[in-house]
Amino acid sequence: MIALVLPGVYAPQDDTELLAEALHEEAPPPGARVLDVGTGSGALALEAARRGAEVTAVDVSRRAVWTARLNAWMTRLPVRIRRGNLFTPVRDRTYDLILANPPYVPAPDAGRGPHGRARAWDAGRDGRLLLDRICRDAPALLRPGGVLLIVHSALSGSDRTLELLRAAGLKASVIRRRWIAFGPVLRSREDWLRRSGLLAPAEDREELVVIRAERPC
Ligand SMILES: C[S@@+](CC[C@H](N)C(=O)[O-])C[C@H]1O[C@@H](n2cnc3c(N)ncnc32)[C@H](O)[C@@H]1O
Repeated sequence: MIALVLPGVYAPQDDTELLAEALHEEAPPPGARVLDVGTGSGALALEAARRGAEVTAVDVSRRAVWTARLNAWMTRLPVRIRRGNLFTPVRDRTYDLILANPPYVPAPDAGRGPHGRARAWDAGRDGRLLLDRICRDAPALLRPGGVLLIVHSALSGSDRTLELLRAAGLKASVIRRRWIAFGPVLRSREDWLRRSGLLAPAEDREELVVIRAERPC
């Protein structure tokens, strides 16, 4: 899917792939304005650009921004890549499609927010540090008829995502699900997740969901 991932940058994984499948199904027409928030290596932004969309990508990590720029340069695909916190660099624009694979893994409270490489996946005790902000701020950036596609683990509450997006006036539903084996991060905090009640005693796989939310015309 992607040529280069600099050290410390999130390499495309099952969640990236699931969202890429939803992107292909959505099939934004050439010229559609697409935003990829939390772009990492730029994998999803480049997929959208391959379809002829006009793509902007944002990431808070310097390394991710450089990786995405290198990948755009190597593939000769035109993607505007900005460094910044979620929607801050793109406040004045609206989009036909917003893609988000944000950090969503619940993490024990370490006395400070996510930092270092873990900033790509850790998202507070309930995993919703970024999800809630995206549900709150993305609707205003969608054009009428525009769509938000967001992927996350069911561990961080798909019902809550649906509830927030519907409360913002969007038509939201789960359009894809995939069960995957625990990766190294979940395995390392399995006991804590069970003690916190986020993981049922017999649960030994993680469910990923893609939520599609459309702003009515
Ligand atoms: C799970 S990774 C997804 C990367 C890529 N979109 C993919 O699907 O492979 C989440 C990305 O969000 C970025 N990120 C974390 N917090 C952010 C924030 N506040 N604003 C923008 N990007 C952020 C991380 O640096 C990381 O690259």
